[in-house]
Amino acid sequence: MAEIIDGKKVSAQMREQIKSETEELYQKYGVRPGLAVIIVGDDPASKVYVSNKEKACAQVGYYSEVYRLPEATEMDELLALVDRLNKDEKINGILCQLPLPKHLDEEQVILKISPEKDVDAFHPMNTGKIMIGDYDFLPCTPAGVMKLIESTGTDITGKECVVVGRSNIVGKPQAMLLLQKNGTVTVCHSKTRNLKEVTSRADILVVAIGKADFIGADMVKEGAVVIDVGMNRKADGKLTGDVDFESVSKKAAYITPVPGGVGPMTITMLLQNTLTAAKKQLKIL
Ligand code: GUN
Repeated sequence: MAEIIDGKKVSAQMREQIKSETEELYQKYGVRPGLAVIIVGDDPASKVYVSNKEKACAQVGYYSEVYRLPEATEMDELLALVDRLNKDEKINGILCQLPLPKHLDEEQVILKISPEKDVDAFHPMNTGKIMIGDYDFLPCTPAGVMKLIESTGTDITGKECVVVGRSNIVGKPQAMLLLQKNGTVTVCHSKTRNLKEVTSRADILVVAIGKADFIGADMVKEGAVVIDVGMNRKADGKLTGDVDFESVSKKAAYITPVPGGVGPMTITMLLQNTLTAAKKQLKIL
């Protein structure tokens, strides 16, 4: 039976550390890390994510601003807001919640955010830096996954690491981070042939494809570390991951649950990036 990786616990420990560093920063420099979050429209899931980000900021003592803009917001208004926040000294990090309504161009918005304040690490300047291993910010979800693997005491060096999913937000940067830790990395996707054969080789398996319970025990190696990034809503309203927890937990050595695995880490890594941004902007890092 696998040991369950407790994302809430790892996350709570990190937030305690972030909170105490924030207090220290305030005592020494009289400033608090500042995060601005922009949300456009009424997507229910996005509204929940944004309010969780706002609560997390308050919990660790950050200054935060949330801009809840109407669905009909035009591109020039959104870009003007980002521009103003880029210049605002109280704001160290800027995040525009995705997806944006269809008439807005996400790429243009990401490009407009100053790379120094890009706490999502979505700007091509930051994604490029991840590629060459010289980065200030790591994208929140893959960075959270690395912390969870670390929490198991697993040494990644030389291990077979398989990432299922190739999104710009998770799969691709995840592969880079595992490679930097000397893993032997394979990235699988919807066109991969013999997927089961590839996933069954993995000592470390990270799954981010958005298909409920897709990875069964027959696709997992005995004793693997299995990280489930998926978050799918079943017909009965319950949340479930991309991994069939019931069967895979009998075969893996470590496994993340959904909810309570990767999810709690994502906002914690956003807090971490905002603290890093604040220190960099104060020139103390
Ligand atoms: N939508 C879903 N996940 C994310 C994220 O990590 N950042 C932003 N900006 N939007 C998201």
